[in-house]
Amino acid sequence: MSSAARIQEICAAHSARKGPLLPILHDLQAEFGCIDEEAEGLVAKALNLSRAEVHGVVSFYHDFRPAPDARPEVQICRAEACKARGVEAIVPDAERAAGKRVRLSTVYCLGLCSVGPNARIGDAVYSRLDAERIQQLVEGA
Ligand code: FES
Repeated sequence: MSSAARIQEICAAHSARKGPLLPILHDLQAEFGCIDEEAEGLVAKALNLSRAEVHGVVSFYHDFRPAPDARPEVQICRAEACKARGVEAIVPDAERAAGKRVRLSTVYCLGLCSVGPNARIGDAVYSRLDAERIQQLVEGA
C-alpha cells in the first residue's frame, strides 16, 4: 500500500468524527514518524480544508514533525510548578548529556506537578529529578 493510500485510509477512518483533524494527524505521526507536505495536502483534500489550515495545525503542535527524526526524545516539563521545583537548574545538565544524539523537548505540564521536576520518555514519566538523575535518564534514552 502506498503512503498516499494509507493516508486516505486513515482520513476515511476518522471521517465520521466531529473534529477529525487532530486524530488523523496523531495517527499519521504515529505511523509515518512525520507529517510532510504531501500528507498535509491529502489531509486537506480529505477534510475539505486548505493546505494552509492543515499546515497551521501541524506546525503549531510540537508533537507533529515535518520530517522523521529517529533520535530518542526526552520531554522535560518547564511549566510553572516544575519551574518552582527547580527544573531550570537541571536543564543545562540534560542539554550536556543529550548532545546531538537525544532530542530534548519542552512540554508544559505532565500532570504530576507536586513531584516535579518531571520528564517523560515514551510513556514513562520520571519525577523528583535532580541534575544527576536527569543526566542518567538522557544518557539512557
Ligand atoms: S508543571 Fe510540571 S508536571 Fe505540571
